[in-house]
Amino acid sequence: MSFVNGNEIFTAARKGHYAVGAFNTNNLEWTRAILKAAQEKNTPVLIQVSMGAAKYMGDYKLVKSLVENEMRVMNITVPVVMHLDHGNYEAAKECIEAGYTSVMFDGHDLPFEENLEKTKEIVALAHAKNISVEAEVGSIGGEEDGIIGEGELADVEEAKKIAATGVDYLACGIGNIHGKYPANWKGLHFDRLKELADVIEPPLVLHGGSGIPQEQVVKAIKMGISKVNINTECQLAFAAATRKYIEAGKDQQGKGYDPRKLLADGAQAITDTVEEIIDWLGTPAVK
Ligand code: G3H
Ligand code: ZN
Repeated sequence: MSFVNGNEIFTAARKGHYAVGAFNTNNLEWTRAILKAAQEKNTPVLIQVSMGAAKYMGDYKLVKSLVENEMRVMNITVPVVMHLDHGNYEAAKECIEAGYTSVMFDGHDLPFEENLEKTKEIVALAHAKNISVEAEVGSIGGEEDGIIGEGELADVEEAKKIAATGVDYLACGIGNIHGKYPANWKGLHFDRLKELADVIEPPLVLHGGSGIPQEQVVKAIKMGISKVNINTECQLAFAAATRKYIEAGKDQQGKGYDPRKLLADGAQAITDTVEEIIDWLGTPAVK
């Protein structure tokens, strides 16, 4: 099964008022755990890698070959999108060359006109190879792998201009935050989401999906969110299961120190978390 681009999957999601999960991979265990969950749920899935995670794993080509070869040995039959997450201009071009089927050009920290021009260029390069493009307007609060945002709400007029470049899906700042949400977080800005969804045709993307109360995610999906990005939630689940393994002293029993054993509970916790989130998102099974 080869990769697919995101157009069909996310356009259908917008029409059907459900969402498809976009899960960050960080290594081999993450890659297998996410693919296992999608196959068990028989749903499409997007696997994404940040610039930092790709550097940690090796490079963009290595990450792509890891995912596609895990799909081969695991006999994955569901549609999988290979996506660059929060890419800068160079990274987006490099992943287009490397054969990713979807790339995010995150120009939120650039002057708007420069974000617009560079988005146009990336769309032209990507669409020439039938690759989907995600762009960002406003910014997501908090920090994602070195990408820092103030959490500016997306400006509707700017969003319309970026959408007019032909991007396939659009990430908008609606009060969402990367990483853990502070106790005093005011919730998603649904008024702004409605204003955006009323005028933006492409599917909308919710970043910082980890830690948002389920009812707010479900409401946002009904209003036009079709792609939900998740990273921290899986990292927390992995760490908690691995801590439990260690605190139970299992690493000191027999060959419990073997990484294939030591990392197994954590990996299963990622799979369980991804499956639970796929249920939230209402992603229908592949026919
Ligand atoms: O792009 C990746 C996501 O926005 C992840 O956010 O770590 O808060 O789930 P999260
Ligand atoms: Zn993000």
